[in-house]
Amino acid sequence: EKGTYDHYMLKEIHEQPGVMRNIIQNYQDEEGNLKIDKAIIDDVAQADRIYIVACGTSYHAGLVGKEFIEKWAEVPTEVHVASEFVYNMPILSKKPLFIFISQSGETADSRAVLVEAKRLGHKALTITNVPGSTLSREADHTLILHAGPEIAVASTKAYTAQIAVLAILSQVVANAHNKNTGVDIIPELAKVTTAITAIVDDAPKMEQIAKDFLETTRNAFFIGRTMDYYVGLEGALKLKEISYIQAEGFAGGELKHGTIALIEEGTPIVALATQEKVNLSIRGNVKEVVARGANPCIISMEGLEHDHDTYVIPHVHEMLSPLVSVVTLQLISYYAALHRGCDVDKPRNLAKSVTVE
Ligand code: F6R
Repeated sequence: EKGTYDHYMLKEIHEQPGVMRNIIQNYQDEEGNLKIDKAIIDDVAQADRIYIVACGTSYHAGLVGKEFIEKWAEVPTEVHVASEFVYNMPILSKKPLFIFISQSGETADSRAVLVEAKRLGHKALTITNVPGSTLSREADHTLILHAGPEIAVASTKAYTAQIAVLAILSQVVANAHNKNTGVDIIPELAKVTTAITAIVDDAPKMEQIAKDFLETTRNAFFIGRTMDYYVGLEGALKLKEISYIQAEGFAGGELKHGTIALIEEGTPIVALATQEKVNLSIRGNVKEVVARGANPCIISMEGLEHDHDTYVIPHVHEMLSPLVSVVTLQLISYYAALHRGCDVDKPRNLAKSVTVE
């Protein structure tokens, strides 16, 4: 039930600190060690390449997950949109492992790839919110998201849960390979939980940002570099699916290769700046669009903030900042849709799970 919340989406956004706590609890044993079935660890650790396959928001979570797997577990990883992979399969490595990410576990496009992967004799792991779902039953292994039922069509808590589970999995595989990631994932996820709580408590501020930047616009752009690029893709998807504002996410450096032609006086640009290595370069990209009249909404992270940033998220490990920055974008999208009179929980033309290819 929605309880005191006006919409399931708002409720589910607010549930995210609890979801993080559930995940921390479910993926730890009594001694506080990370807990994942040995058979899963072995299959991931033995793979020479990982193919993440998913759709929509789950695909965006996969993009973030790839960074954990490559940087921490050091296994080469590709991320693919399921509906393309089916028709255009890359040359597979000798010992591939497929990871399907799906909130519902019922997405037909992803299932088509799973069927093909099994036909070829490859191992598959499904990361899903729904135990017993089709993708879970048909894969060799399942990791559960523990996010609780997600009712709103726009996915929120499943995305953050997917990223958290991928982070834990990558850490466990790194441990299996005796690789020191320098990251203590449970305390870092605890910090993330606190940061998400601070942001949901700041919802009135997000509502104001939605008013200031998105109340009347017909389009919006999201930019970021590295991890922030992936979060921008998700922010744009959230905004367009519930508010019908045409929104696109771009790599900060790519904008000038064409898209910048769309910037007009007042065009909102949401720029994410949570990554130290690219902080100055993304800010350079903001200057480029401001010079063409854009209205910049800059979301940065404590320690990297500049004067006049629109919102500064609490400091967390840079690799985990997507878990926090996305919550600002979820809330901003929610309020933008609300103010524009849209049906937030049931946007037009969309269904919660897409069971046709
Ligand atoms: C967007 C959204 C969709 C789903 C996509 C995959 O908010 O919900 O993009 O993420 O249809 O669904 P699952 O994760 O159930 O496979």
